[in-house]
Amino acid sequence: MKTIRDFDLKNKKVIIRCDFNVPMQDGIITDDTRIKESLKTINYAMKKGAKVILLSHLGRVKTEEDKEKNSLKPVCQRLSELLDKEVIFSENTRGRKVRTLVNNLKNGDVLLLQNTRYEDINGKKESGNNNYLGRYWASLGDIFINDAFGTAHRKHASNVGIARHLPSGIGFLMEKEIKYLDKITKNPKRPYTVILGGAKISDKINVTKALAEKADYLLICGAMAFTFLKATGFNIGSSKWELDETFFCLNLISDYPDKIILPIDIVTALEIDKKAKTKVRFVNEIKEDEIGLDIGPGSLKVFKQYISDSKTIFWNGPAGYFELDNFADGTKKICEMIADTKALTIAGGGETISAIKKFNCADKFTHLSTGGGASLAYLEGKPLPALKVIDEKNI
Ligand code: 3PG
Repeated sequence: MKTIRDFDLKNKKVIIRCDFNVPMQDGIITDDTRIKESLKTINYAMKKGAKVILLSHLGRVKTEEDKEKNSLKPVCQRLSELLDKEVIFSENTRGRKVRTLVNNLKNGDVLLLQNTRYEDINGKKESGNNNYLGRYWASLGDIFINDAFGTAHRKHASNVGIARHLPSGIGFLMEKEIKYLDKITKNPKRPYTVILGGAKISDKINVTKALAEKADYLLICGAMAFTFLKATGFNIGSSKWELDETFFCLNLISDYPDKIILPIDIVTALEIDKKAKTKVRFVNEIKEDEIGLDIGPGSLKVFKQYISDSKTIFWNGPAGYFELDNFADGTKKICEMIADTKALTIAGGGETISAIKKFNCADKFTHLSTGGGASLAYLEGKPLPALKVIDEKNI
């Protein structure tokens, strides 16, 4: 795959697609990891004398009201601080003003256009990969570099569309992500264990099946465990589960009975509250009014055996409602167990990474992926559209 190193960037207008889709609260960025991870590519392009044009989406923009809370302006400010250089901000995603800003760029300058998903308001032009829009953005530059790994499983005008119309390659972050994930997809050291948690099984059906095939063990935790438990006949009280997915869970368990490992006990409470009293229940003892909010100590013991024996571990999705201390133990212990191994350890997904950071284990992992959905899609073995288009161009 062509990378940014393969291009002469001097005097060139280089469009870099980043994933600045960072978590925000009241206009404040709560985790700037994705911005920091983009710096290497941006700095490289600046130093090589490129005129740098940055594109990114942020959140989902469906109405005019969604625009304000999804403006990239705070990202622009943070990026300026991190680069120690003014980043020019375009309030628009296209039009005469954008063209003027681009034409005024000098070598080493950096321009960030407004959220590409502003283009979704009238007809989903960005996320529907509108051909005109991709061609328009491509017309602003000479070279396209895709460094947005987190978005690589999407087929947008700003990542797939542009690449069709310009000489294209990938940036350093994209390269790093692929390097590490390939250690899992291509001949992983075994035992290879996947820990899958988080809220919804329906978001992860295809990948769960693919991972059950490829991995040696699939440890299921988080809210998704309750659909599996319900499918096997347990009373899960008032815990979250998905009726539509029970058949899928049952099939998976019967197809891979030795691989799918479910919790044996659960931390329950009557409400999701930081002061809620908790109880540990075996999975056959959960009461009707109880909500399962974490995995219990018995499950952690079982999980530990698999985790400590593994040579490759991939983790996506917390084990419980870790934002509240009374339901955080399962996620915290899993962090620590993985951190204690000598295995190749990779985690992906926004919530998982913030849990790992919260429990101070970040530097103990081999790699923290900036992509949740993207890393799962990659492990599933599907070609990611944003990479495929670049690969095919350079054949
Ligand atoms: C992510 O955070 O997973 C990526 O930025 C993609 O965002 P999306 O799920 O809104 O497409």
